Amino acid sequence: MKHIVICVGSVYGAALETAKAIRTALQEEGYTAELHDAPTLDSVTQTEGAILVCTSTTGTGDLPDNIAPLYIGLTNDFPNIVGRPFGVITLGDSSYFDTYGGAGDLIFEAFTELAAKPLTPLLKIDAQETADPEEVAVPWAKEWARQLDSF
Ligand SMILES: Cc1cc2nc3c(=O)[nH]c(=O)nc-3n(C[C@H](O)[C@H](O)[C@H](O)COP(=O)(O)O)c2cc1C
Repeated sequence: MKHIVICVGSVYGAALETAKAIRTALQEEGYTAELHDAPTLDSVTQTEGAILVCTSTTGTGDLPDNIAPLYIGLTNDFPNIVGRPFGVITLGDSSYFDTYGGAGDLIFEAFTELAAKPLTPLLKIDAQETADPEEVAVPWAKEWARQLDSF
């Protein structure tokens, strides 16, 4: 499997910039990638390939508004995505304690509940530790994508 659908949730743009850097890096590795900056259920049901979510966390552990339609679709419509490979990167800030990376937890759980296939555990990137999330996200995404070689 060589195609990746990148679904972005972002309020101020950090997760979007991170996702764009991931797209470029994956394309350089020979994958095809499409980026959805306002993902909906169609981003999953009307596409093929692996799903990579890159979302920040807002409010108190909430998903950004622009990715909420995807989450609502997954949890209300229960699409058949059994076995679909996916991964989740979430940007957050550990100073929010209990809600640290909460958006990633929500979306990871939504995919898992539908029996999609996580290639690796969720990645949380902490703004307290990492000034440039791309530095962590890009190598992680390349390694994540390598797991697709067995699909
Ligand atoms: C109003 C607000 C609420 C936030 N709430 C959380 C939170 O509950 N948990 C968390 O881990 N990070 C939280 N964050 C931190 C953001 O997830 C982090 O700054 C992220 O890098 C923002 O990415 P974005 O520019 O793509 O929106 C919050 C940030 C803001 C401004």
